[in-house]
Amino acid sequence: MSKYPLIIFEGIEGTGKTTQINNLTNFLNKNKYKYVKIREPGGTKNSEKIRKLILNKKSTLNKITDLFLYLASRSENLEKIIAKNYGKKIILIDRFIYSTLAYQHYGMNINKKLINYLNNFLVGRFKPNYIFLLTVDKKTLIKRLSKRKNKNKYDRLKINFYMKVQNGYLKLLKNKKNLFLINSCETLKDNKETIINK
Ligand code: TMP
Repeated sequence: MSKYPLIIFEGIEGTGKTTQINNLTNFLNKNKYKYVKIREPGGTKNSEKIRKLILNKKSTLNKITDLFLYLASRSENLEKIIAKNYGKKIILIDRFIYSTLAYQHYGMNINKKLINYLNNFLVGRFKPNYIFLLTVDKKTLIKRLSKRKNKNKYDRLKINFYMKVQNGYLKLLKNKKNLFLINSCETLKDNKETIINK
């Protein structure tokens, strides 16, 4: 494997992905590793504009429109950030192709073959080397989501929707050799060490 892997973080709301990514970037900064970090939807200037369109609380865009917008945001990142840095810097991505399968297929029942086709068409040779999937149990999720302020369109979905999405992630990823499951109900410190050690 290249010394500059493509590392992705996946998981539903309330699993602490952002915190763990920040822990990892602090470690990379301290040890002077070269890396770039992006989130999806978002990343490039164009993709951040797309993010606002999708996640706006008042958005009335339908689920198929959202699907194409997530892919549009990914397309911009692939061209402008991932292709340019692949093999030259570590690439960290907060959500990637598996979010689209988990949310748009397992959560919203959009055809899985179509999503797989579009993901593969876009991503091509840029396959993740490490996938960290953060999980949470239902009781903890209810507690964590109730504390969230500034809810976006996707933060307002029902708990059962998120549990469906999480089960989808587990189904999708269970046989992947590069999957590392992180139970976000363990301590932040233990999970931070596990991720950095990997
Ligand atoms: P987040 O960046 O705060 O995690 O929010 C992004 C939201 O977008 C989150 O609810 C998951 C959702 N999402 C999808 O539904 N499909 C996708 O392909 C991606 C990248 C995100």
